[in-house]
Amino acid sequence: MIPRPVHSSAPGKVILFGEHAVVYGEPAVAVPVTEVEARASVVPAQMGRGLTLVASDLGESFALNRAPEGEPLALAARLTLDFLGVSPPDATLTVRSTIPIASGLGSGAAVSTALVRALAHFFGQALEPAEVSTLVYEVEKIHHGTPSGIDNTVIAYERPVYFVHGVPSGPVPLSVGAPFSLLIGDTGLPSPTRRLVSSVRARREQDRTECDAILKRIGSIARRGRRAVEAGQVRRLGPLMTENHRLLVELGVSSSALDALVDAAREAGALGSKLSGAGQGGNMLALIPPSAGGRVERALRDAGAVRVIRTAVG
Ligand code: PMV
Repeated sequence: MIPRPVHSSAPGKVILFGEHAVVYGEPAVAVPVTEVEARASVVPAQMGRGLTLVASDLGESFALNRAPEGEPLALAARLTLDFLGVSPPDATLTVRSTIPIASGLGSGAAVSTALVRALAHFFGQALEPAEVSTLVYEVEKIHHGTPSGIDNTVIAYERPVYFVHGVPSGPVPLSVGAPFSLLIGDTGLPSPTRRLVSSVRARREQDRTECDAILKRIGSIARRGRRAVEAGQVRRLGPLMTENHRLLVELGVSSSALDALVDAAREAGALGSKLSGAGQGGNMLALIPPSAGGRVERALRDAGAVRVIRTAVG
């Protein structure tokens, strides 16, 4: 190996259908969002320096061999080095990201994915998406507690997926029958995945029958959403998104800030809208007809969105 600088990246993601229910074995549909991304670079350092990890957005820098056990960047690096069967190189590994943190856009999984890819690349190896996804899943446990695995999957595969937790054959890559456009509106409030997943678990322990009925209905929407995406029936997606949001409200994971954006989008002409990710804060999605994009974007900003991303699927 001739050490030379390498760079890798990974996109963000949104969940179109099925968040929370996916933790309990129901399916979910997610798509990558390439308008935001995490980047990682590995640059050779002087012999004997070991591996230094730099989180440049956070202004943090530390040596791998001094990092505490549960530090996510260090865990991603250690898992990758073990997987490759190599010792830490003398190098500086820097990560940076344009994906807002704790907002349902997969920032943690994207940073880990970019890091895993860059480190493998430094050793002259290109890992398969399934290998990257498995490594990143271990790091996701730090962020999420009991992650379903959807974030690492859609980000490592970088394509729309239909995902069911624990299926040995892996995710089903979705073919998109007709392209469609989404606006992603950010409440600017943190969306603590681990806390919201715990709150759904607590709620389910209190009232399993009612909670499971909601989760099953969300699963059924994800199945119908998958068929509509594949068949190119874009107009069917809107009502399914709106119904998915209503069920997430029933589950107790929405908030007034999310509901305000979800309602404003539809009133301005979106075909459907829902929160995306763990909920409470973070981002929401609106499916937009080409003619109403500008109007919906303005309505989202007027209703409090701190940032709006437009992305195309397919
Ligand atoms: O990290 P987020 O906000 O995209 O949430 C992931 C989706 C959940 O279903 C809430 C959790 C999971 O592990 O699937």
